[in-house]
Amino acid sequence: MTDQVLVSDDGAVRTIRMNRPDKKNALTSIMYDAMAEAIETAGGSPGIGSILIAGVPGAFCAGNDLQDFLKAAMGGEGLGDAVIRFLYALARAERPLVAAVQGVAVGIGTTMMFHCDYAVAASDARFSTPFVALGLVPEAASSLIAPRVMGHRRAFELLVMGKPLSGEEAKACGLVNQVAPADQVEAEAMKAAQHIAALPAEGVAISRRLMKGAPDEIVKRIDDEAEQFKLRLKSPEARKAFETFLSRKK
Ligand code: COA
Repeated sequence: MTDQVLVSDDGAVRTIRMNRPDKKNALTSIMYDAMAEAIETAGGSPGIGSILIAGVPGAFCAGNDLQDFLKAAMGGEGLGDAVIRFLYALARAERPLVAAVQGVAVGIGTTMMFHCDYAVAASDARFSTPFVALGLVPEAASSLIAPRVMGHRRAFELLVMGKPLSGEEAKACGLVNQVAPADQVEAEAMKAAQHIAALPAEGVAISRRLMKGAPDEIVKRIDDEAEQFKLRLKSPEARKAFETFLSRKK
């Protein structure tokens, strides 16, 4: 149990809220595990029809905790079991995932979108994936799904060049469905989640499975990326990038 992730069921919608505002919702192992658990158990709960993933004002998620990445880099570890469990949970989710994005959405905060069925971004949202600048490579099967969603060139700009996207730009390239003022994002996302949850559950599940296909290809890409990620974590440029961020003076 952690209060850095709050899970609540409101009618047929399960809300998973990342709640580490002092660190802009940078994700730690304990948070990944809590989020994975909430997604996994929703699958076995007939009362839950959709899952809403939200953050806090100004921060959807600042990506993986860079302190944890530095530890992994020093110890020669990879992404870690909790991260992989969370990525598998996203890929295998049995309930539609809806995201409400306010403020920063970095790294996994952005790549999570590729697994969501519906996403609402605030006009102040800023999506970015500085993987390559950090000495890393994309994760969460984004190297497979992003080119399908937005075409190779826009995916390259986002995932390799690290060019951020505003809420409007994210909508224009198909990363999110809708843009709303920051104070209405959650209400709009909840409306979508409730709409989905009110539909005939089997029809939603079958349609979704037909549209997404079996998760095997996605899971395999998560594994392939994780292998490369582990090697890159050990690279001198990755370690230097983490240390630079963590020791910066404000
Ligand atoms: N890991 C660890 N700590 C993080 C973090 C991360 N990914 N992102 C933010 N934080 C911490 C900051 O160190 C700071 O902590 P402090 O107050 O103890 O110094 C706190 O969260 C607030 O961050 P700050 O940088 O002051 O907020 P900001 O609004 O100016 O900028 C971000 C927000 C997200 C743009 C900026 O923090 C950032 O670039 N973070 C790193 C994102 C990243 O590279 N993630 C990994 C992707 S693979």
